[in-house]
Amino acid sequence: MERMKLIELLNDMSLEEKIGQLVQLSSNFYEDEAVLTGPAMEFGIGEAEINHAGSTLSIFDPKIIKQIQENAVKKQPHNIPLLFMADIINGYKTIFPIPLAQGCTFQPELAKKCAEVSAKEASAGGLHVTFSPMVDLVRDARWGRVMESTGEDKYLNSLFAAAIVQGYQGKDLKDKGSIASCVKHFAAYGAPTAGKEYNNVELSLRSLKEDYLPAYQAAIDAGVSMVMTSFNTLDRIPATGNKWLMQDVLRKQIGFEGVVISDWAAIEELITQGVAQDKEEAAQLAMVAGVDIDMATNVYIKNLKRLIEKGILNETQIDEAVLRILTLKNELGLFENPYKDLDIEEYSRYNLCPEHRKIARKAAADSMVLLKNDAILPLKKKEQCIALIGPYAEEMHLYGAWSLLGEDSNTISLKSGMELADADNELLCVKGVNLLSEKETLYGFKGLVSESNPVTKDAMKEAIKAAQKADIVILALGEHAYHSGEGGSKADLRLPKQQRELFKAVSQVNKNCISIIFSGRPMDLREIAEGSKSVLQAWFPGSEGGNAIADLLYGIVSPSGRLAMTFPYSTGQVPIHYDHFNTGRPFNGDHKNRFQSKYLDIPNEPLYPFGYGLGYTKFSYSEVKLSKTNMNKQDTLTASVVVKNIGEHEGIETVQFYLQDQKASVVRPVRELKGFQRVFLQPAESAEIKFEISEDMLRFYNYNMDYTSEEGTFLVFIGENSTTMNQAEFKLQLC
Ligand code: BGC
Ligand code: BGC
Repeated sequence: MERMKLIELLNDMSLEEKIGQLVQLSSNFYEDEAVLTGPAMEFGIGEAEINHAGSTLSIFDPKIIKQIQENAVKKQPHNIPLLFMADIINGYKTIFPIPLAQGCTFQPELAKKCAEVSAKEASAGGLHVTFSPMVDLVRDARWGRVMESTGEDKYLNSLFAAAIVQGYQGKDLKDKGSIASCVKHFAAYGAPTAGKEYNNVELSLRSLKEDYLPAYQAAIDAGVSMVMTSFNTLDRIPATGNKWLMQDVLRKQIGFEGVVISDWAAIEELITQGVAQDKEEAAQLAMVAGVDIDMATNVYIKNLKRLIEKGILNETQIDEAVLRILTLKNELGLFENPYKDLDIEEYSRYNLCPEHRKIARKAAADSMVLLKNDAILPLKKKEQCIALIGPYAEEMHLYGAWSLLGEDSNTISLKSGMELADADNELLCVKGVNLLSEKETLYGFKGLVSESNPVTKDAMKEAIKAAQKADIVILALGEHAYHSGEGGSKADLRLPKQQRELFKAVSQVNKNCISIIFSGRPMDLREIAEGSKSVLQAWFPGSEGGNAIADLLYGIVSPSGRLAMTFPYSTGQVPIHYDHFNTGRPFNGDHKNRFQSKYLDIPNEPLYPFGYGLGYTKFSYSEVKLSKTNMNKQDTLTASVVVKNIGEHEGIETVQFYLQDQKASVVRPVRELKGFQRVFLQPAESAEIKFEISEDMLRFYNYNMDYTSEEGTFLVFIGENSTTMNQAEFKLQLC
């Protein structure tokens, strides 16, 4: 439809109809067995209001979507179709590793492929919009939602944000297999105080602009259709009612022109947060801030008309919001075809097809991070007895908290993956202990979570027996999927107690332990690392998890994942991130000097730093070579290293490039990631890796809050992770 026609349509709509477009009804309005991803709210609305609604969320059955849409188009006075939205996060039916794991691939193009597959499956299933990517910067592993982010680094997150948006949306939203993408949660939801879910965010303006906003900006620059507001406060003002944040920053500075949706019930929560007296005032605050769609409450539907009648709001504000929503519907081609790509035959053919599984297997293998390896991996296919012990040995739910459509029966468990990889080995499989602690009650998005195949106390003895008999023990340990995700904050980052006990008992009787950790967050793995010969962080790897792990264990695929989030030494270190600042008294290792920045009871260093990860070979680095040591604003400078595979296996190295601004008008981070390259090398093979440095990489918010660079010396670090000391120095001169 041409824009003129859209405007004509808008002008022809009644106020009630317009307000209807700004309402997103939860799925319980349309189906009995609804999935609610937030608290059920009282609506108190009648049929006319339901018929005016502009969108809904979390309806998945394509047959039901078809019926609802048919009905909606008939009943909406101008036959305006509904938008069907849902959280397609790490996959629709084919489940990929969780986003944090995808971050560890250091391959945005691979995340783009995962998003493409998700969009293809979801659009055939009748969906139009996904609430993804979540690009909140995360530095505190206590917060359960770190699993939904691609990690702690602004540069890496920005690359992933753009790639994922492009993957979902394709070239044109009308194209077959494209869905609209909604970036979330705006803004700074990733920094809740003390890692506690929904908690307030206290953040400097400088950090907001420099660290937290770039990934949203990258998604918007990539053409994202929608932005979701966040639940948190920012500078004591809830984001959803924050006019400065939504108008000045999002609309004016960042230049976003698409649809803004509140998070679930976030407009109504302005009352509980204490900035709105009642729903009327909440509606006013959100509308003035520029929130177009009210997700899952009746605040807009019950109050906008009155606010206009009272003259507090004017109808043009409503018109602008409605036009943005109609524009999105038009971009998706819904006025011509309200079902878009919905096709039951294609839906069945695409879901979990071999081609999609292949991408899931690669993404899973590339996302896992080998944290320790004392010459025990890769496993050799020879006659040996392997004991596979732990609650994740046969567990089928390997999806993480956000896979509303993933079915356990479609997963390759670790046991199946190992059996498929090496059928001749004797595999003793024992669960040992339960995943959930005794008497623990845990609620997921679909109610109370129960243990699959619970064991009794004797199972521990069986596990010890198996460990005694085996040549090698593989311990499959971790958190339950719902120990992370929304509402999954934790104060203790160690594995559940009974699993630590299992680990202790098993590792005492067998010294050849390989630990595989399934989790949605970095954990405190100290005890596990000490007692294991090898540790593999498997995250929640998705449908092909077991195959992917077996690929790595047997060396069919070289481990290449690198940590996108720091693994702390203990919970007491969080929040922790590699791009921190020097104090005036940085710790130099001299414990006799009391007056230095350090802890008395734990080291300053994390257990595993950002960018860290092992493979089955070793690489050497030459010194960093610079094409010159002075540059000005117009120049570029090339930094290079020669990387050589000095081990016996082929392997992939992720060569990482960091910069440090040594002196500026404000304190600058000790280093920041500015580039990386993955290089595949055979034994004895080497490659020269180059990074170009230009002045725009050196910019930051200076003393006057101008985004600019300042003259001075910079250090270039190029190496295997964020702790590399392989460095060179250059000067920036501005004239
Ligand atoms: C979450 C969002 C999600 C929304 C809709 C909220 O509770 O915070 O991330 O997209 O529900 O399911
Ligand atoms: C302390 C101050 C103290 C000063 C003089 C500094 O190290 O931080 O509190 O007054 O020394 O002793």
